[in-house]
Amino acid sequence: MMIQIRLNELEKGMYVCGVEKRGMSPVFLVNDILVRSDDDLARMSARGYAHVYISLNEEAPPRSHEKKVADCGPAAAPFYPETAELAGTDEGARQAEGVKPDAPLPYSEFKKELAEAENIRHDAEQVVRDFLHNARTGKSIDSEKVLETVGRMVDSVIRNQDALTSLARLKSFDDYTFAHSVNVCILSLAVGRHLGLEKDELDQLGLGAILHDIGKMLVPGELLNKPGRLSEGEFTVMKKHTELGKDVLAGMKCVKEPAMKVVLEHHERFDGSGYHMRLSGGGIHLYARIAGVADVYDAMTSNRVYQKGMRQEDALKRLYHSRGSLFDPELVERLIKCLGVYPIGTCVELNTGEAAIVRMINHSHPLKPRVLLITDGKGLPFHEPMETDLQEDAGRWIVGSKRPEEFGSHIPALCAI
Ligand SMILES: [Fe+2]
Repeated sequence: MMIQIRLNELEKGMYVCGVEKRGMSPVFLVNDILVRSDDDLARMSARGYAHVYISLNEEAPPRSHEKKVADCGPAAAPFYPETAELAGTDEGARQAEGVKPDAPLPYSEFKKELAEAENIRHDAEQVVRDFLHNARTGKSIDSEKVLETVGRMVDSVIRNQDALTSLARLKSFDDYTFAHSVNVCILSLAVGRHLGLEKDELDQLGLGAILHDIGKMLVPGELLNKPGRLSEGEFTVMKKHTELGKDVLAGMKCVKEPAMKVVLEHHERFDGSGYHMRLSGGGIHLYARIAGVADVYDAMTSNRVYQKGMRQEDALKRLYHSRGSLFDPELVERLIKCLGVYPIGTCVELNTGEAAIVRMINHSHPLKPRVLLITDGKGLPFHEPMETDLQEDAGRWIVGSKRPEEFGSHIPALCAI
């Protein structure tokens, strides 16, 4: 797994796997190169690269502060100090190992799972609408129904990690809160599956994630829907939603302690700067750390009344730069791995000048996904959009991603899968 960063963001200890000059196609290296010294950084600078691609593989960890790991080079272990501390526990073993990526799925089967995931997501929207409405109006919440829906989402993510995850791009609800609850659940499950959590553990993670902001239904509506920044006083009121959420869910049998921790601790931050208990590091429940990353990622990429959503890759880069401070570094990197370099639905520009949409991630070759070609090299739409697998199509490769609107009027309607 790799991500693109600007050259001035490169640090000692990172592994470079590709370089790119402005306006040119990236060049990928046969072997990753470890940046060991200031001299290495200066040499890269002198060559005039605009961007570099760094490897996030466990075998080539981009950790400037872990001198021993950087000096030892590939295969030095353990990668994460937190994992080392957890060694010997089930959680530690799973985090160290994670799960192997899915074996490549025939495209026809992936499409089948995608269709099923769309049904599941549609039902989840309705369930979220119902329980949020009931929470606001003081009616009882059918927690078994919520758990059943989460269980279907868990099953889908277990069958294939990409189908449901790709639907976390959908931001088309008229109410941000509904979409956000579903997306945080999907993204949390993707990360949880990547960590190797079991089905019953994923159930509780998903339940907590989908319910994470339920306490906001007890916050005055004018605060919830206020465009722009909240005043300090308003923010103090808003911050109470984590404890209010716990109160709403108290006594519900299927909401067990891990799910409750997500509701209560999803705004705690890795460095202790969050709220409301100022927990830090492993003191924050693993599921709350996962949901916290998913929560911020989805918020950054969503369009709001007062701000346009960020491009996915920009949001991932921002999270990446906050790893180890605001967020658990391993979980940030897991999320990046789950979503891929070019997540499904990303609009990309090809070397031919054609515009395309990513339809299926290639986890073995992240830069060569299956894409749907939309416009030709002159920006004119194909009479019938056609698909091509970039791993097999030697004449085409991705040169970058763009916002859908940058490609004119042909892409936006087609961009959501
Ligand atoms: Fe929240």
